[in-house]
Amino acid sequence: MKKPSNLRTWKAIFTLINFGITVVYAADFDQLFQANWAPHHILVQGAQIALSLDSSTGCGFESKNKYLFGKASAQLKLVEGDSAGTVTAFYMASEGPNHDELDFEFLGNVSGEPYVMQTNLYINGTGNREQRHYLWFDPTMDFHTYSFFWNRRTILFLVDDIPIREFANKEKKGVAYPRSQAMGVHGSLWNADDWATQGGRVKTNWSHSPFVVKFQSFEIDACQLSPDGADDPVVKCGKSGQFWWDKPVVKEVNKQRKRLLKWIRHNFLIYDYCQDVARFNDGMPRECLQG
Ligand SMILES: *[C@@H]1O[C@H](CO)[C@@H](O)[C@H](O)[C@H]1NC(C)=O
Repeated sequence: MKKPSNLRTWKAIFTLINFGITVVYAADFDQLFQANWAPHHILVQGAQIALSLDSSTGCGFESKNKYLFGKASAQLKLVEGDSAGTVTAFYMASEGPNHDELDFEFLGNVSGEPYVMQTNLYINGTGNREQRHYLWFDPTMDFHTYSFFWNRRTILFLVDDIPIREFANKEKKGVAYPRSQAMGVHGSLWNADDWATQGGRVKTNWSHSPFVVKFQSFEIDACQLSPDGADDPVVKCGKSGQFWWDKPVVKEVNKQRKRLLKWIRHNFLIYDYCQDVARFNDGMPRECLQG
């Protein structure tokens, strides 16, 4: 497929806005993160980490701090070869039963068949906002960058700085929006062969384990709360115009973003909950309604 010519312009402008105003914090894994599930399956080598999954366990990590608004990125190189049944997640989440969460989930496949990238949002504890995309590259060959951009007006999911999904704030229309709960940044690898690959028909082949995924180049440029939880997130991070991610983005960027989102949607979208009328037969979620 042909990439639209505005791709480069968007990337240049977005990068300028992103990096021109503040210095992004990139660090060794240990400075930012800690293991929170099966630490013996996480191999840390400076700025790069490898998570492994075998029949005994998967594993996971989370940031030491929590953040409200900003941008969080990591580069991932997904499980090579037969990854059927495995799911790699890179996500942001707050805590508690009414938590907010932003997800990238990569659903593995048998050798030679494409990964599916699933994104989801939980707001006040409710998810069910899945979208699924194919990628325009083989995510097991090289590292690619996956990011969340989050401010009071919108949430963008980005792949190599290309927006693939937007969840705009529609609070004026009565749609809940995450803006008061600080989230940690997480990663994990686990077995989900009851649903992940071809609807659960293909199971994990444990003779191909351990399955290994690599993360590197973590960048978190976001409003950080003190780890003891003493800060009121809204007071500390909520002042409008205080941070680069609040700056009103020039019109041209918004136009580019809309065009790119449309292009991605047209070429790579496989599933959108907003079009799943059968699933929501009691009525579509409010954010899916037009106008
Ligand atoms: C796996 O490959 C099949 C066949 O190409 C495809 O239909 C499916 O979407 C792929 N991904 C997953 C996660 O099942």
